[in-house]
Amino acid sequence: MLTPNLSYANLKESYLFHHIAGKTEAYLCAHPDAHLFRMGIGDVSLPLAPAVIQALHRAVDDQGEKDSFHGYMPECGAPFLREAIAAFYLKRNVQLAADEVFVSSGASDELGDLLDLFDRKNRALIMEPAYPAYVDANIMAGREILHLPSGPDNHFLPLPEDSLQADLIYICSPNNPTGAAYNRDQLSRWVQWANERGAVILFDAAYEAFIEEDLPHSIFEIPGARTCAIEICSLSKTAGFTGTRLGYTVIPKDLERSGLSLNAMWVRNRTTKTNGISYILQRGGAAVFTEEGQRQIHENIRIYKENARVLMTTLDEAGIRYWGGRNAPYIWMECPDGQSSWAFFDRLLNEIQVIGTPGEGFGSCGEGFFRFSTFGDPGDTREAAARLLQLLKQSH
Ligand code: MLT
Repeated sequence: MLTPNLSYANLKESYLFHHIAGKTEAYLCAHPDAHLFRMGIGDVSLPLAPAVIQALHRAVDDQGEKDSFHGYMPECGAPFLREAIAAFYLKRNVQLAADEVFVSSGASDELGDLLDLFDRKNRALIMEPAYPAYVDANIMAGREILHLPSGPDNHFLPLPEDSLQADLIYICSPNNPTGAAYNRDQLSRWVQWANERGAVILFDAAYEAFIEEDLPHSIFEIPGARTCAIEICSLSKTAGFTGTRLGYTVIPKDLERSGLSLNAMWVRNRTTKTNGISYILQRGGAAVFTEEGQRQIHENIRIYKENARVLMTTLDEAGIRYWGGRNAPYIWMECPDGQSSWAFFDRLLNEIQVIGTPGEGFGSCGEGFFRFSTFGDPGDTREAAARLLQLLKQSH
């Protein structure tokens, strides 16, 4: 008889955001006329940039003409998009060959798929609080996980120690959920640590476009990273592609383990397991990297940053400690009066119809904290902030 993957039995019953969606649905069933202020999952509320829409329309027309029609696309990405992404990195003085860039359908898909490159005996180090898919994908793969907790004492930015034993290290900077971001010196320490041990860093750069300060946007800005890191990025948060789906992964050709090139292994994987990303989407994605596209996506990011400012002002006024909001689209606050994060979630939903994400969902050290996404509608964010301020003032 077939044996299913028994590792699934080690997962929590449902995925964090699915669980929150279920609770939200139940509330709406009981209160069908309620308007909810959605600041839970980091899903964008502003439309795609006009330059992207024009490129998508043109690409649809291309598919209607014999001379411009495209069938299967190259599995690792269209040269025009791989080159546009390499040119984007060059502006930050990071030199990449176009065939070190792989076009993907998004960061979360890729973070799971990339695990194919590594033996399950490798141990994964996950700094927590963490995006829960890192943990769940490794549990599904039956891999041992070393949970590295962080907190206010280290500003949610843990640093390597000699005693840590791991082969695969997840770094998300700017971080989901805490919004904390590593500086060059701190990232250099992780790069050195990984190179010394032959470990590989999976660097999640999904939030790099939100960086305001002088901080690295890419792990490849750090000397030595080409021999120990893979970078995963997505256009979801940067350019509003959550419902459109497009991302990219950088695997340098210098990255080898046991005499095998991880870049060549990924080519082998993609050419076997995918038939590439649609031509239409890749044309839309390429528009993001044009001068006009960059200007337009940053107009949307500016609006999300204004949401962050509104929420930060509210928390300042209420005297609540928080992190993030400056270099990231998330605000990570301490729950008032020592409340548990799920109790605070229920309270916000039931009393002020605001949805956030309980910190416990990002690992046990996230208990007592709460995350707000700043990707919501600006009017909703202002109203939610006003309601939150009232509720927090009552708490004290
Ligand atoms: C989040 O809210 O943590 C993210 O939006 C989830 C995701 O990117 O899949």
